[in-house]
Amino acid sequence: MKTQIAIIGAGPAGLLLSHLLHRQGIHSIVLERQTRDHVLSRIRAGVLESTSVEVLRAAGLADRMDREGHPHDGMRIAWAGRDSFYVNSGQMLGRPFVTYGQTQIQQDLFAAADARGQSLLHGVHGITLHGIDGASPSLAFTHQSENRELKCDYIVGCDGFHGPSRRAMPAGVLREYEKVYPFGWLGIMARVKPLDDVTYAYHPRGFALASRRNDKLGRFYIQVPLEDKIEDWPDGRFWAEFKARFPQAIARQIEEGPSIEKSIAPLRSFVAEPMSHGRLFLAGDAAHIVPPTGAKGLNLAISDVHYLSRALASRYHDASEELLGNYSATALRRVWSSVRTSWHLTNLLHSFPAATDFERRAQEHELAYLQSSTRAQAALAEQYAGLPLEI
Ligand code: APR
Ligand code: PHB
Repeated sequence: MKTQIAIIGAGPAGLLLSHLLHRQGIHSIVLERQTRDHVLSRIRAGVLESTSVEVLRAAGLADRMDREGHPHDGMRIAWAGRDSFYVNSGQMLGRPFVTYGQTQIQQDLFAAADARGQSLLHGVHGITLHGIDGASPSLAFTHQSENRELKCDYIVGCDGFHGPSRRAMPAGVLREYEKVYPFGWLGIMARVKPLDDVTYAYHPRGFALASRRNDKLGRFYIQVPLEDKIEDWPDGRFWAEFKARFPQAIARQIEEGPSIEKSIAPLRSFVAEPMSHGRLFLAGDAAHIVPPTGAKGLNLAISDVHYLSRALASRYHDASEELLGNYSATALRRVWSSVRTSWHLTNLLHSFPAATDFERRAQEHELAYLQSSTRAQAALAEQYAGLPLEI
């Protein structure tokens, strides 16, 4: 087997990259371990920055998002017994962000892959990377009980945090930066009318978040201790705790209903530098992980592959390797901006078990400052709703 670009992983990063490359006339083959149904069964985030919306629209992938996505002019922040406030990012930035589930994006990306006849193998196992320091890299793997080899010009690891590509970097090349948070998020999906706004709540009992997938499908999260299990949280207990973390005026609007999905995820910040070495490039969760507080994970996967597809197009069409050489530094500028924002929002909105009284008071006064200052809100809005992509 031979291709120009070998892509490991058919998540948002891998499928969007193959789509963008195809539009540039560049051939790729995507190798995915799981079945399509398994990939589609994952419940993930649902906020698209305005810049991500534009990347998808420019790639011809926005039709269903425009029909089913929900534009937002901002998000609401509430906290213990105080009035909530609305950060009007639409007014400050002149463009909305959109709630549209990653599952829907994944469906749209698979449909686009089928429409263009994308070479996409599911059930691929034991991928190993070879020759990334030379001019003829390759992947070895098994598929349908056969040992296969894929020769290529470049390998792109879109294989998420646990995939093989980051680990294929030669020893001593990678610098890794990590922060693990002392709590997790319990998330549920319920067929109930969601709140109008994406609403974040800080409460001494813990963080809560109300979001949406559509007018009849709400997505709800609460901060829980790391040792908690799903079975500790029957629906009745979840809803009582969820509403206890919002001011009464908002709690009254929350419609309860049976959960159709329930999961607990730990929170972590992680960045691997550089995001490229020789003929290997990393994109998305393979290179970085953010706590979901800022809804940045999907948006970073999109910005990474936007930059990488542009760099590969320049390599093949203009015989210039300059953008490829700059990919890691360019992508990391946006990665660290989003990683910092997600870390800041996680510190601002969660109740840290080991926090001192001083730290709690400082946290509450930072929230009060954010509520009182349109300048502070503008800075948050820019980071949350979408920094411009670098030209
Ligand atoms: N071989 C083949 N495929 C693999 C391997 C492997 N060894 N390891 C992982 N994969 C596949 C996974 O099955 C998954 O489908 O790589 C894909 C990685 O997809 P994601 O984890 O979704 O990562 P990414 O495409 O970067 O998207 C990031 O997804 O995880 C969320 O919160 C994250 O929203 C963010 C987005
Ligand atoms: C979601 O809709 O799943 C969502 C929204 C905002 C976040 C995280 C997740 O910060």
